[in-house]
Amino acid sequence: MKTAVFPGSFDPLTNGHLDLIRRAQRLCDRLIVAVLINPDKRGLLETQQRLDVISQALAQVKGVEVKAFSGLLIEFVKQEQADFIIRGIRGVQDLENEMAMAWTNEKLLPGLETVVLLTRPELAGVSSSLVRQIAHFGGDVSPFVPPAVDETLLRLYNKRDQSDDTPTKGGE
Ligand code: PNS
Repeated sequence: MKTAVFPGSFDPLTNGHLDLIRRAQRLCDRLIVAVLINPDKRGLLETQQRLDVISQALAQVKGVEVKAFSGLLIEFVKQEQADFIIRGIRGVQDLENEMAMAWTNEKLLPGLETVVLLTRPELAGVSSSLVRQIAHFGGDVSPFVPPAVDETLLRLYNKRDQSDDTPTKGGE
């Protein structure tokens, strides 16, 4: 049985991630979507919210688990007895970073392979940072994220709107 880990920040999950996760699932028997807990960086969504929206978005997809991890990725890989890591790249701009990560992880855990999937061209322009920016300025993120993420962001910004003057979704 082959187990793969698909790690990331997922702040938030995008349609690009979702497509990669579905395709990655077909390459192994067990896929773990691993959400990095980063105490040094306050993100848009809390770790639990990220886990919840990923689980909701993947409700119909069999063979995928969603877990949080902290510290080194290779320690999580060892703990889960995973066989390889899967990452996606949107283009050459991602390649250098992914190569450095793959080389580092292999150095730390010799033999550990990283399988890199190419993002579909129609989803290559989508990124979590762009989604965060659009959400921050009150734009419509629904073309770029699964419905569970859209609903969570709408709730989040509406709540902030009621409690302070933070820029919110326009007209809602
Ligand atoms: O979605 P991202 O932010 O590109 O994901 C980056 C991630 C989480 C895969 C990477 O930062 C990571 O693996 N962090 C854990 C710390 C670690 O193991 N670092 C050394 C390997 S480069």
